[in-house]
Parts: sequence; structure tokens; C-alpha cells
Amino acid sequence: MKIAEYITKRLPCSHGQTVREQGSAFAPSNIALVKYWGKRDEDLHLPLTDSLSISLDYLGSTTTLSAALDQDSFTLNGKAMASNSQFCKRLSDFLGYFRCLACPFFKLSSEMNIPISAGLASSACGYAALTEALNELFDWQLDKHALSQISRIGSGSASRSHWQGFVIWHSGHDTNTDDCYAEPITTDWHDLCVAILPNESTQKFISSREAMALSMHQKNVREKWQYQTNEIIQVMQIAIHDKNFAQLGSLAQQHANAMHAIMHQSQPAINYDTDISKRQKQQITQLQNQNHGIYYTQDAGPHIKVLFQAENHALIKHYWPSAITINPWSQHIE
Ligand code: PMV
Repeated sequence: MKIAEYITKRLPCSHGQTVREQGSAFAPSNIALVKYWGKRDEDLHLPLTDSLSISLDYLGSTTTLSAALDQDSFTLNGKAMASNSQFCKRLSDFLGYFRCLACPFFKLSSEMNIPISAGLASSACGYAALTEALNELFDWQLDKHALSQISRIGSGSASRSHWQGFVIWHSGHDTNTDDCYAEPITTDWHDLCVAILPNESTQKFISSREAMALSMHQKNVREKWQYQTNEIIQVMQIAIHDKNFAQLGSLAQQHANAMHAIMHQSQPAINYDTDISKRQKQQITQLQNQNHGIYYTQDAGPHIKVLFQAENHALIKHYWPSAITINPWSQHIE
């Protein structure tokens, strides 16, 4: 099946009959605790394994969309983006699946309050917000499960950005792809916090999509990763159920390290670290050796994210005063 056919199957038959003045939505960024790395179907962007994330509350993207007559235009944080940039080409390709007579082009404006293209899931929240904005613009009235099946075509991890809290994305097994979707894990965990450590705001030298394809093409690498990830995600769900922080944190750190080890071993090697991120991971490991229960994770970028409990907020602020701290299930942690 081709993507166009896959998307058409998911849209209501009435797609294009209603085009509102605009559609607008916010979606939070998410951090994978069990990573999505590798695809079981490259064409349809079906993941090799399930993955599990935590959403970042108010950090994310607000996207507003309306119909345009003669060309697409994209504005990011108030700045017009060049139509020949990679960023705009990817957006135009995605929007191509939804063009219709009444809406041949789009005017898109996105406000993001996280660093872009630095491993902070800017594409995840961006494509999730965009898909929700499309839902409103065309009045599809699709639920979030269905939207997660559409947004993942823009960016796989976007499927997990339609909810707050913990979210699981099922890889599914069917070739018809209906069983590949994301859903929230209903729970709360009031003292669980995430810190985003400061780093330089550099753009990625290689996109996560390219890095994934390059590092996961060998059968033995894929099989080992699949086995390891299936084990970890089972235990992670038990850790969430039991609110076992040490288990959750150590598994997340182990899985992030495993993903980066695969990238380091690929040909050519891919390394998203900067001197700052290396130093931060060393500092966290030292603090772990001193019995502090804090754990890191890292996606396809240099930013290090720390999982900690509210009681360690002062410790985090002591070592990284400019870290952004988030407490997904409570408003304040001080
Ligand atoms: O959503 P993509 O195609 O940019 O891939 C995201 C991959 C990671 O961020 C590294 C892991 C994940 O599960 O979010």
C-alpha cells in the first residue's frame, strides 16, 4: 500500500467538502522512555517495536492553519520560512495528502517554545499539532487514536504527542496497519519530574529519519534491538503501574544508551553528543554512584533529559541552574 492510499482510507469520505476559516491546535512535545528506532515497513513508516513516552506539559507547538489559493506559506515563531528549505519541503509533502479543490494550498503558522531540531521532539509536537489543526480545518471529527495514525506519517514520534502523560505507541503486526496507533496510559505520578539540561542550540547534522535508516539496516542489529526493546517495554509498564521510579529511570537510561551505541557502531558512525552532553552524562553517572536517584535519556540530538523525583529538584537546580524542569502531573514542584 502507498501512503496516499493509506491516508485516504483514514479520512472521512466527506474530506474537502467543509473547509473552515482556520484550524488551530496545541500538542505537547514528548520524550521517549522506550525509543522508537527502526521500521518494520519503510514505506508506511511502521515501527519495528512499540515505544513509550512522557509528554512535556506546556512545552510544545501551537499550529494554526488556513486555506490558501496560490502557494504554501510557512511561518515558524513569527519568521517566514524559505519554501526550498528541508523543513518546508517536508511539510509540503505531508500537506500534499490533504489538498483538495477548496484548499489547494495552505497557510501555516507554528509557535514552538522548545529548541528546534535538537532532539527535543520538535517534529513530534509539530506534526501532532498540525494533524489536529487539519482535523479542525476540514471538520473530520476524527478521534486522537485515528489522528495518531495520520501524524506518524509526518514524524513517527508525533503519534505519541496527542496526549499528556505517558503514551504508548503500538507497532502492530497487521499488514493493513490498523493495529498501529498510539494511546495514553491512564495513570498519575505526582512526584515524577523531567529536566531538560541546557546545551548549545545547534541544528542537527543528520535527521533522525536518516540516522534511523542508516543505523538499522542490518538484520542482526534489528533483531537484537527488537528483542531488547520488547523486554524493556514490558518491564517499563510494570514500573509505571507500581510507580517504581528506580526501575523506570534505569530502564530509560539503558534503552537510550543502547540506541546511541547502535548509532556509534553504524557505518559511518553517527554521534549526536557535544562536549556539554558528554559532561552532563558523566555528572549524572557520578551522582548515581553517590546514590542519587536521577537518570538520563537522550534522543536524536544533543539535549540530555533527566528523570527525577520532586525531592531532587534542588539537586538538579544546583548542578544545572538553567535547566527547564517539568512536573507533568502537578503545576508546581518547589
Ligand atoms: O519521529 P522521528 O521519525 O523523528 O523519530 C524519533 C526518534 C527518537 O526521537 C530518537 C526516538 C523516539 O521514540 O522519539
